[in-house]
Amino acid sequence: MTQTIQLPVTRQSAAKATIQPHGGVLINRLATAEQRAEFLSQAEHLPRVRLDERALSDLEMIAIGGFSPLNGFMGQADYERVVLEMHLANGLAWSIPITLSVGEEVADRLSIGSLVRLDAPDGRFAGVLELTEKYAYNKLHEAVHVYRTNEERHPGVKVVYEQGPINLAGPVWLLERKAHPQFPTYQIDPVESRCLFQEKGWRTVVGFQTRNPIHRAHEYIQKCALEIVDGLFLHPLVGATKSDDIPADVRMRCYEIMLEHYYPQDRVILAINPSAMRYAGPREAIFHALIRKNYGCTHFIVGRDHAGVGDYYGTYDAQHIFDEFEPGELGIMPLMFEHAFYCKRTNGMATTKTSPSTPEERIHLSGTKVREMLRRGELPPPEFSRPEVAAELARVMHKQAIEEVTKAADLYEI
Ligand code: ADX
Repeated sequence: MTQTIQLPVTRQSAAKATIQPHGGVLINRLATAEQRAEFLSQAEHLPRVRLDERALSDLEMIAIGGFSPLNGFMGQADYERVVLEMHLANGLAWSIPITLSVGEEVADRLSIGSLVRLDAPDGRFAGVLELTEKYAYNKLHEAVHVYRTNEERHPGVKVVYEQGPINLAGPVWLLERKAHPQFPTYQIDPVESRCLFQEKGWRTVVGFQTRNPIHRAHEYIQKCALEIVDGLFLHPLVGATKSDDIPADVRMRCYEIMLEHYYPQDRVILAINPSAMRYAGPREAIFHALIRKNYGCTHFIVGRDHAGVGDYYGTYDAQHIFDEFEPGELGIMPLMFEHAFYCKRTNGMATTKTSPSTPEERIHLSGTKVREMLRRGELPPPEFSRPEVAAELARVMHKQAIEEVTKAADLYEI
């Protein structure tokens, strides 16, 4: 299934959307035709910095307004206040540092006030930074405050420990808004989602963040939310994830299958979130909510262990963190859901808020468990996963297994 959506493009109509972007203005840092021509003419003479996948997606998110009010990579005042107090220097709520880190030798050859050419990991000219600051920062301090742990085996902390010791800061421009190579139909930028919501007459829209294949608990909480708002904005993250997460193309395919069979199509929009996962649990829940506010959502789903990894965070820490902000400060309403499961006693999806079941009467599987089952060639049960989705996951795992066996056979010349 492919969705056909007419994308309205005028920024004026976006301005009338029901919810203001974070900070009041939807940032647009896409280079104009003139700026682009100017940057291209200087391309060979500008000092270069090579971005990794995460920094490239950050550049893209800044440029399209997904990270409004940020118009570039954070300077020291914003960085330090965000790490310590979850606010930007101007007092606006913000929970995750958005930084461009480089090695000392790279930083040393860049002078403040100059333009820096930002290259994509493949070497393509992707954007420009106007360098306003370079500063050293404390990685341990960032890890402990943002990720609540100093352990290197935490995938978000690992990235911080491995990145360069100097942050470059300043406003950026994205040279060109390219169509997403894998999901062009689902590339809907904030200015467009805001128009779409308005055109559909949705005054209230709930955003859903996800990095896992859709299962019935996801479906349940999405539909509970959909009972009380006008529209559902399904917004799977397709930027960098840790290597054992299910790849984005498989997850998107599962969503297409679900929309075809199980959702009222006129009340749901599926779009990609190009940003990278941080696995920062509670802090990332705030960040995820602010991103969806920028896309025009009025509500945001936060379920169990949102953006968590391993056992670093308590099941509901990502919900409790919302209490640390003043009412109305975030400007988007979190919709909190307890751990949902299939309940054998009531024959349906439920939580302990709605079902008197004993733990033995509940069916829920962890992501790791599901991956193990699929590897053994077993399908997750229909109480956990819709059969069409289970079949798709099994098909992909089967294909992967064959590829692995073939690779091993080639290696050993069997
Ligand atoms: S996440 O890293 O993007 O949060 P995932 O895709 O698994 O991971 O979760 C998407 C959203 O669904 C999050 O808000 C998460 O808290 C919620 N969620 C996932 N599983 C459940 C469940 N069984 N019960 C309640 N909420 C859940």
